[in-house]
Amino acid sequence: MIKEKKIKKYTVKKPDCVKEETSAYSMVTTSPTKKLDIGFRKICNCQNSHINCMTAKEWLKSQIGVWQFYYEGRDVRDKNLHPATFPISLSKKIIELFTHEGELVLDPFVGSGTTLVAARDLNRNAVGFDLQAQYVDLCQKRLQQSSLFSNAKQLAVLDDARNIPDYLEKASLSLIWTSPPYANLLNRKRKNKSRRDRDNEQLGKVEQYSQDPRDLGIMEIESYTKAMGDIYEQLFPLLKPKAHCVINVPDMWWENKRITIHVSLIEELRTRGYELRNIIIIWDTDKLPAKKWLL
Ligand SMILES: C[S@@+](CC[C@H](N)C(=O)[O-])C[C@H]1O[C@@H](n2cnc3c(N)ncnc32)[C@H](O)[C@@H]1O
Repeated sequence: MIKEKKIKKYTVKKPDCVKEETSAYSMVTTSPTKKLDIGFRKICNCQNSHINCMTAKEWLKSQIGVWQFYYEGRDVRDKNLHPATFPISLSKKIIELFTHEGELVLDPFVGSGTTLVAARDLNRNAVGFDLQAQYVDLCQKRLQQSSLFSNAKQLAVLDDARNIPDYLEKASLSLIWTSPPYANLLNRKRKNKSRRDRDNEQLGKVEQYSQDPRDLGIMEIESYTKAMGDIYEQLFPLLKPKAHCVINVPDMWWENKRITIHVSLIEELRTRGYELRNIIIIWDTDKLPAKKWLL
């Protein structure tokens, strides 16, 4: 069995009560003085007591602990565009599990905007943040393609995840879903040890997003874990009661030691008030190691 990535799901204690949405907000490049104009209330007819729009049968089918995904034409697979994306199908599955139509999803590390594309397909409002202008541009390009729905908004914001509370109302989020930087896993020359096609064009390249000191992808595991804890602690009051938080991370090898990023994050987020509810293993067949390594 190969464990590629682990997802951690958290529910939260009851935060403050809901405030009304405030006035409009346009192009976002610096910290705003007003909150974003984006909806967060359920617009479907399903029961308020349910956490999603699924039938009981669909819910049961989704309870399997190992997930496998397919990629589609709209997925960003070009590492020159973005080095670490996840598939739209994964993002859609998470959003369908933890939100209703019209509710608000946050991706604090949005990258190429996969979460926003998935939210748009599912008629959910969504906001994503990233430090890099080129990725926010890429999000906007992907969102230009036509959509089935028009009553939900998806916004990409160029800013540090540490500033998110400036943009969003308290108790407005139903889901925080992201694949954050994986500490400094990418901030070194690739050896491709876990790839089938080892000798590909990525071999020997550093595929880190940036060397910006605010970028969590240049931090060693200890400072990375604390930075994630600080960001998620600030996000806590933005969550509705019983909202969910899902984080997609791999573990990694560093100088012959196994670094268990998922364990560090679980422990850190628990100290910040989150409760662990589940771990799901994602089996990404794209990242299977060379056949000779398989048992
Ligand atoms: C693993 S990628 C996200 C990829 C995304 N799931 C996708 O499908 O494209 C992590 C992203 O976090 C961004 N990032 C790193 N530090 C950040 C920070 N402090 N605030 C906001 N974004 C940050 C990086 O620029 C990078 O695009």
